[in-house]
Amino acid sequence: IPVDDFDLVIFGGSGDLAKRKILPGLYRRFVAGQMPETARIIGAARSDYSDDDYRQVAREAVEEHVSEVDQEVLSAFLGQIHYLAIDAKGDKGWSELRDLIRFEVINAFYFSVAPSLFGDLAERLHSNKIADKNSRVVVEKPFGRDLETAQALNETLAAHFKERQIYRIDHYLGKETVQNLMAVRFGNVLFEPLWKTHYIDHIQITVAEEIGVEGRGEYYDKSGAMRDMVQNHMMQLLCLIAMEPPSVFGSDAVRDEKLKVIRALQPVSNHEIVRGQYDGGEGLTSYREDVDNPRSHTESFIALKVHCANWRWAGVPFYLRTGKRLKARSSEITVVFKDLAHSIFEGDEARHRNILSIRLQPNEGMDLQVTIKEPGPGGMRLIDVPLDMTFADALGPDNDEIPDAYERLIMDVIRGNQTLFMRGDEVEAAWAWTDPIIEGWQERGDVPKPYDSCSAGPEDAMMLMHRDGRRWRDIKG
Ligand code: BG6
Repeated sequence: IPVDDFDLVIFGGSGDLAKRKILPGLYRRFVAGQMPETARIIGAARSDYSDDDYRQVAREAVEEHVSEVDQEVLSAFLGQIHYLAIDAKGDKGWSELRDLIRFEVINAFYFSVAPSLFGDLAERLHSNKIADKNSRVVVEKPFGRDLETAQALNETLAAHFKERQIYRIDHYLGKETVQNLMAVRFGNVLFEPLWKTHYIDHIQITVAEEIGVEGRGEYYDKSGAMRDMVQNHMMQLLCLIAMEPPSVFGSDAVRDEKLKVIRALQPVSNHEIVRGQYDGGEGLTSYREDVDNPRSHTESFIALKVHCANWRWAGVPFYLRTGKRLKARSSEITVVFKDLAHSIFEGDEARHRNILSIRLQPNEGMDLQVTIKEPGPGGMRLIDVPLDMTFADALGPDNDEIPDAYERLIMDVIRGNQTLFMRGDEVEAAWAWTDPIIEGWQERGDVPKPYDSCSAGPEDAMMLMHRDGRRWRDIKG
């Protein structure tokens, strides 16, 4: 079903994100029949492109990032694309944009530019009477680098737009498998009664990447894994796993519950944090070479033990880890249940535990470790086996292509559904928790531990678990 008619203006329209994600995502929605024939995408940037020049940019972007492209369909898609040269800090292009925009349809403005330009864009959209109370703005991370800068960005946007008009993207929330966390928890009777301190020993959240910093050294070396991944993507995963059931699946209901989780997070003490930095080897460059900073103390890996102080989670640690240049690309959430209170099986010394593992990417699916009788006449011996489901198999061949996060999120902007976007207070609460952790290691002059490329991270990250008598799940692609 097509969404309502819209004009979507992409500031930074020839930038990396537009080429890699936004334009290919819109193309896929076009193919799916979700983009109305009259809807328009207007690229805006500084270069003096013509419509046709920009269509060529879009054509190449789609051809590079979409696996099967039908040239006829692509031409029809490109016919809905336009371009305007606009100066974010000057007058150029703004009156043309006002003439081009159709005020009778939904207007969305995607700020795919450096956050330092958000204020200029918001201000000019208003002074040129282009944006009104129904317009929507879409912004990307990094949303600030600490609480103070995030508050300043929120204030800049709030000077021109109401919260209901602001769509802060965390692309993890657009991933099908991340949304599925809510379906699993709140769509089954099976899990929710056990989802609490009485039955859960601990929870692990791993987001492992194989890639290094990939030419983004300048940004990354000033951020590190804590700012780049934990404050946003990992925090969102933690919220979806830990939150109370919202009364409805609605934008404020969901975000209110997530906010409560973030506010309940406890400060993390030094010995519960392990930071790492990858070494080179076997033809691979080291982190310091990649960011061209031989003395960098920025972490490309972090593991933390986190506590959420409320009735549901008292005493249940959440172990979080994320890093680059690890042995596989694998994002997974693992819920390890407690031991049986009492075993009736005499002589069975082994520890049997139910473990629910949700694979977010790749090989999306879930498995549940259950204990059964080992077949054979040897008495009542128990073994643990996985009840394994790969979504691609379970859903069948028509569902084998999992839509990209951006496709869903951009369509949600047009639909006016903010459920999968971060609210201003949520972002600020996440920084309020993150800031003291970063300040702590900066004050101590903490140096990240080196780890081998293609490993599971520094040895100390293993110790973080081992000393609690626990261990990480293996990182498997
Ligand atoms: C981005 C980070 O937000 O997420 C990157 O800035 C990271 O450093 C990326 O590589 C991971 O996203 P995905 O979708 O590949 O898991």
